Parts: sequence; C-alpha cells; structure tokens
Amino acid sequence: MGFLSPVYVFLFSFGVRVYSQYETYQWDEDYDQDPSEEYQPEFPFHQNIEYGAPFRQYTLGCARECSCPSNFPASMYCVNRKLKTIPNIPAHIQQLYLQFNEIEAVTANPFINATHLKEINLSHNKIKSQKIDYGVFAKFPNLLQLHLEHNNLEEFPSPLPKSLERLFLGYNNISVLQTDAMDGLVNLTMLDLCYNHLHDSVLKEKILAKMEKLMQLNLCHNKLESMPPGLPSSLMYLSLENNSISSIPENYFKKLPKLHALRISHNKLQDIPYNIFNLSNLVELNVGHNKLKQSFYIPRNLEHLYLENNEIENINVTVMCPSIDPLHNHHLTYLRVDQNKLKEPINSYIFFCFPYIHSIYYGEQRSTNGQTIHLKTQVFRRFQDDDSDEHDESDGAQDSHEHGAEEHFDPHYYDSQEW
Ligand SMILES: *[C@@H]1O[C@H](CO)[C@@H](O)[C@H](O)[C@H]1NC(C)=O
Ligand SMILES: *[C@@H]1O[C@H](CO)[C@@H](O)[C@H](O)[C@H]1NC(C)=O
Ligand SMILES: *[C@@H]1O[C@H](CO)[C@@H](O)[C@H](O)[C@H]1NC(C)=O
Ligand SMILES: *[C@@H]1O[C@H](CO)[C@@H](O)[C@H](O)[C@H]1NC(C)=O
Ligand SMILES: *[C@@H]1O[C@H](CO)[C@@H](O)[C@H](O)[C@H]1NC(C)=O
Ligand SMILES: *[C@@H]1O[C@H](CO)[C@@H](O)[C@H](O)[C@H]1NC(C)=O
Ligand SMILES: *[C@@H]1O[C@H](CO)[C@@H](O)[C@H](O)[C@H]1NC(C)=O
Repeated sequence: MGFLSPVYVFLFSFGVRVYSQYETYQWDEDYDQDPSEEYQPEFPFHQNIEYGAPFRQYTLGCARECSCPSNFPASMYCVNRKLKTIPNIPAHIQQLYLQFNEIEAVTANPFINATHLKEINLSHNKIKSQKIDYGVFAKFPNLLQLHLEHNNLEEFPSPLPKSLERLFLGYNNISVLQTDAMDGLVNLTMLDLCYNHLHDSVLKEKILAKMEKLMQLNLCHNKLESMPPGLPSSLMYLSLENNSISSIPENYFKKLPKLHALRISHNKLQDIPYNIFNLSNLVELNVGHNKLKQSFYIPRNLEHLYLENNEIENINVTVMCPSIDPLHNHHLTYLRVDQNKLKEPINSYIFFCFPYIHSIYYGEQRSTNGQTIHLKTQVFRRFQDDDSDEHDESDGAQDSHEHGAEEHFDPHYYDSQEW
C-alpha cells in the first residue's frame, strides 16, 4: 500500500467527473490525413478551370487540352477535361495533373520528351493494366510521386522508377503483384493499396521487405486472411482494416520496432497473445470490430485504444497493466469500449495504472442474449485541474461547465479501491 501513495496523491490532483451523455466519436489524429501536402503545388488549384483559360499557351509549350499557369511554369493541369488519351507532355513539365478524365491507356509516346517529371496524378481515370506500356513509368528518373488511385488496374504496375517515394494505388482491382514488383523501390516511404483484391498468396514471398524506407503501408479493404509477412522494419503506420485476418503470430511485431500506429479494425481477430502489442513506440491501436474476448497488455506509450465491437465481458486491468511504475507512467488517454459485453464499468485501478486517462467511452453494451444494455456510465471523463493543489481532494467542482452536460460524481470509481 505504501508504495502506491505517490500515485494516490497524484491521482487526486485531477478533477473527476462523469457524464451520462454520448460523446461524438472522432479520430483525434488521422494518419491518413494527407501527408502528400509537402508535394502539393502552392498554386491554389481549381478543378473547373475553363477549357481554354487565359494562361494556356506559353513559350515553353503546353498541350492544347491543358493549362500551364505562368506562375507555375513546370506544372500542367489537364484535370476533368473528358480526355480519353494523354496529351503530349512538354519537356520542361515536372508536375502533371490528369485526374478525373476517361483515360484507359498509358502509352509511352506522349511522354517521350518529359524526362523531368516529378509527380504524375492519373487518379480517377479508367486505366487498365494491360493498356499500360511496359516500363513507361520507369523512364522517369526523377519521379517522386505517382497517383493511380481510382482506376481499373488489376495488376501492380511495374517496373516503377527507383526514385519513387509515394505511390497511390487505392480503389483499383489489383490482385496480382509480381514477385519482383518492389525491387529497387528503395526510396518508397508510402504505399497505398487499400480497396483492392489482394489475397495472402500474393504477399507470400516477403516482397514488401524490399522497401527499406517504407514508413506507411495501407492494405485496408483487401482479402487478407493473415498478417502480411516480411514487412520492412522501417514501418511506422500500418493499416489493415476491413480484411479477414483472424490471428497475429507470436513475435510478429518484434521486427517492427518503430510501429507507431496500427489499425486492424473490422477483421476476425479472436485470440491474440496477451503481450502481442508490447511495442515501445506504439501510440495508436485500433482493434475495434473484431471478436476479441480478452484484454491484453497495454504498452507504455499507447495513447489511444479502440476496442469497440468485440466480445469482451470483463476488462482485466491487471492484464493490461501488470505493474505500476510511478516514474514511468503509462500514457493512455483515450479508451473506447462500446458494443462489447461489459456488465460493469472498468475497475478503478485503471486510473492508477493509466493516470492520464481523460475519457473512457462505454456507450452501449450487448448482453449475452444479444440485447443492448446501458451501463450507468456511458462516458467517463476526467479533466486535469489547472491550479490544483496536491492536498485538495475536493477539487473536481471548480471547472464544472462543459457544454451544460449533466454531471455527477460517480462514487463507483473511487469507492472500490481493492489493492
Ligand atoms: C518532342 O520534342 C520534339 C522536339 O521539340 C518535338 O518535335 C516532338 O513533337 C515532341 N514530342 C512529344 C510527344 O511531345
Ligand atoms: C491527385 O488527385 C487526387 C484526386 O484523385 C487528389 O486527391 C490529390 O490531392 C491529387 N494530388 C496532387 C498532388 O495534386
Ligand atoms: C472489379 O472487381 C469487381 C469484383 O470482382 C467487379 O465487380 C468489377 O467489375 C471489377 N471492375 C473492373 C473495372 O474490372
Ligand atoms: C533516394 O533518396 C536519396 C535521398 O533523397 C537520394 O540521394 C537518392 O538518389 C535516391 N535514390 C534513388 C534511386 O533515386
Ligand atoms: C470498414 O467497413 C466498415 C463497414 O462496412 C466501414 O464502416 C468502415 O468505414 C470500413 N473501414 C475502412 C477503413 O474502410
Ligand atoms: C515488453 O517488452 C519489454 C522489452 O522488450 C520487456 O522487458 C517486457 O517484459 C515486456 N512486457 C511484457 C508484458 O511482455
Ligand atoms: C485477471 O488476470 C489475472 C492474471 O491473468 C488473474 O490472476 C485474475 O484472476 C484476473 N482477474 C479477473 C477478475 O478475471
């Protein structure tokens, strides 16, 4: 008991309140939020630039169908022009915007002079794999970014230039990935393959391991039944939502020490090793909408944990947090557990182990016969009291005006101190 007292004092320097009110759920941070910003041209670009807009023809040349603004002479905009073929690209162009057209084929000819391209946006077209000339993209030695999302691709386009850093292939029908597809993509940091038809078998050869700088891999909405093997150890963000993954091999994450965020919601996870997520850099973990029955070890740096829509009947805090080290607190701040089978709120011991928790979203729970039940507490929130004094145990009442919420102190949390 004695060893706990610093924690005790610390804990009571927080104000504690409970709202019996739903909280609108939102991602606090979204790693999908467009990291491509760094490449976006500063030009405030409007998709509906009139065909034949004022600055069309320049001394350096611009395709008749497109516009090349004088203040961004290396960019050519051909967006949403009902184009069926790619226009000739002048030699000086570095950024090429061809999204929202009806292009089916990528042939080598229009690109013959365009050796300076850094960025190509061909998203939202009708490009078919068999209509891409072999090696057409590999010919751009400076290409950094390639957008091919929302097309009709069935195969991963390869070969690609070794300079490539970001590749967007989401919303296609890709089910084929040649074993040498990733060879030489040493500079690729971001690969988006969400919304395709990838099966486990195409990832077997550990072909992903070749991308030694890969930081973000998105494989959501595919047909995977197991965790993708051989991921590069540089990986920080992994998105696997909406597949059919049912288990995670022991030691799977040992080779991914940098993993920062893992999203694996909407899968079929059932039994997972209790300490599988023991990853020192993990900050966000989403395992919602699975079939988990048990809680698991929570790593120290984890801040956001999503556990909603599972089969958990009892959250065992001892399992989540086997020991408390007041000098190295766990960082968990947000916990979402609605649509499980909880019968009562989580043991108050959780606030000793995770002193930074500011909200637990209980929402609705399902009873074993499938009915929906409400715990007395639907949202638990705790706010740090700015000028709290360590000996004041009756703070909570001072900052009590948040959205006119109905609030009351629920003794459930502090009465049952079991240690
Ligand atoms: C390439 O450049 C040459 C010389 O300027 C020009 O004649 C030719 O039409 C260009 N081809 C394409 C496809 O832009
Ligand atoms: C490429 O086009 C997509 C639309 O499909 C857009 O979201 C994206 O911002 C474009 N990228 C750049 C760098 O313009
Ligand atoms: C993509 O795959 C789906 C399902 O297999 C199919 O219905 C659709 O027609 C395909 N689209 C194309 C363009 O091949
Ligand atoms: C990869 O990136 C590094 C650093 O930006 C650069 O020096 C190198 O040339 C790139 N490699 C390729 C194959 O483009
Ligand atoms: C997964 O599927 C669910 C249900 O269809 C949907 O609500 C959710 O947005 C999907 N998630 C992703 C990342 O696509
Ligand atoms: C988590 O990993 C660390 C270092 O790898 C290890 O010391 C610790 O015992 C592990 N904890 C659990 C609960 O597995
Ligand atoms: C929680 O887990 C620990 C360790 O596995 C076990 O000893 C304990 O009985 C469990 N407590 C409950 C309430 O299930």
